Amino acid sequence: MEKQFEEKSWAETGLTTRLGIEYPIIQGPLGGLSSQRLTAAVSNFGGLGSFGAHGLRPDAIRQVIREIRSLTSKPFAMNLWVSMEDEGASASDESAFRRSLSYISKHIEEVGGVLPSYTPYEPIRFEDQFRVLLEEKVPAFSFIFGIPPREVLDDCRHHGIAIIGTATTVDEAVALEAAGVDVIAASGFEAGGHRGSFLRPSEESLTGTMSLVPQVVDAVKLPVVAAGGIADARGIVAAFALGASGVQMGTVFLSCEESGASPVHRETLLTREAGTTALTRGFTGRLARGIRNRLLDEFNRDGTEILPYPLQRALVRHLSIPAEKAGRWEFLPLWAGQSARVSRCEDVSAFLTNLVTQVSEIAGGVQRWSAGTRVPTDTIV
Ligand SMILES: Cc1cc2nc3c(=O)[nH]c(=O)nc-3n(C[C@H](O)[C@H](O)[C@H](O)COP(=O)(O)O)c2cc1C
Repeated sequence: MEKQFEEKSWAETGLTTRLGIEYPIIQGPLGGLSSQRLTAAVSNFGGLGSFGAHGLRPDAIRQVIREIRSLTSKPFAMNLWVSMEDEGASASDESAFRRSLSYISKHIEEVGGVLPSYTPYEPIRFEDQFRVLLEEKVPAFSFIFGIPPREVLDDCRHHGIAIIGTATTVDEAVALEAAGVDVIAASGFEAGGHRGSFLRPSEESLTGTMSLVPQVVDAVKLPVVAAGGIADARGIVAAFALGASGVQMGTVFLSCEESGASPVHRETLLTREAGTTALTRGFTGRLARGIRNRLLDEFNRDGTEILPYPLQRALVRHLSIPAEKAGRWEFLPLWAGQSARVSRCEDVSAFLTNLVTQVSEIAGGVQRWSAGTRVPTDTIV
């Protein structure tokens, strides 16, 4: 498609320059539902595809990077979690495992799964995962749940790897800027997936995108990417009006054919059965947002015992894998953000083509709000 002049006017921001991409649109990393095809499809279009690799061992990460590179020559991001386990994970024992299992064992049996036996926890280390990203010289490294050690960020700078840190509060954004990241993703509480908070408990870091983005834009000099609740052209234009230099979208990309989400999960998103979402610790042990179903509501009942991250995540897989096979959506962790009902993307290229056309149409009428600039407060009446 020939690019229109109007598209370029909103698309050229501090973010596109820093990352070497054409459109200020990031496909957010989707943890275990990431896919090489999706990452490459978004990058090939001119956005930044990302792959969430926190659950993978180093060799598997290397394989993924090579597969993405076989599908695109454009920049893409690999994403890790800086903090990889919660307090208590190493000390958690078989009796805690049995107690938490008891809440889902009848569901596992109902969907034809096998009840798991206790196996001691084998941690994956952030440092080992990061070493692969460095050896493979990935174009961009994004992360949540903390700030990596100084040597890690120095290594990125030395190798020309763009660094994207995630903030859920203004204080976290300021700390990330002081540490020397290149871009800040400001994640509002509408977002699907985990709250990647690291300075205060996630329950105390629940600011919405509309409030968080302008405050972060005012507090830092770096390009700010708005994440959480953005799923269409209206959301993108709104993010620019708040001063963002780009957007990061997750839930909408889950719904497309290229994503790693299961058919049941995609169907729930696409058939408008998404309904309401809620936060829970039940899916993994850390606070995360998903579509309300029987599983989520049961996890959120008072008294349900949840294992520390990542033990709960490993436990729930014994239910989600057979539930997926059985097509039982009520027993699946249906990750999604609050904009689930407007998240429609069946094919990445068609979706993005349509999206940039619509943003150009809307942005053409509001040129005063050019991306990444602040609306002077004295012009507001
Ligand atoms: C299933 C799922 C998994 C996610 N996993 C990660 C992850 O591993 N790392 C990360 O930085 N963000 C992760 N996110 C957050 C997204 O990258 C993105 O910031 C968020 O989805 C934006 O909000 P939205 O869902 O309202 O579009 C995940 C989101 C979802 C829905």
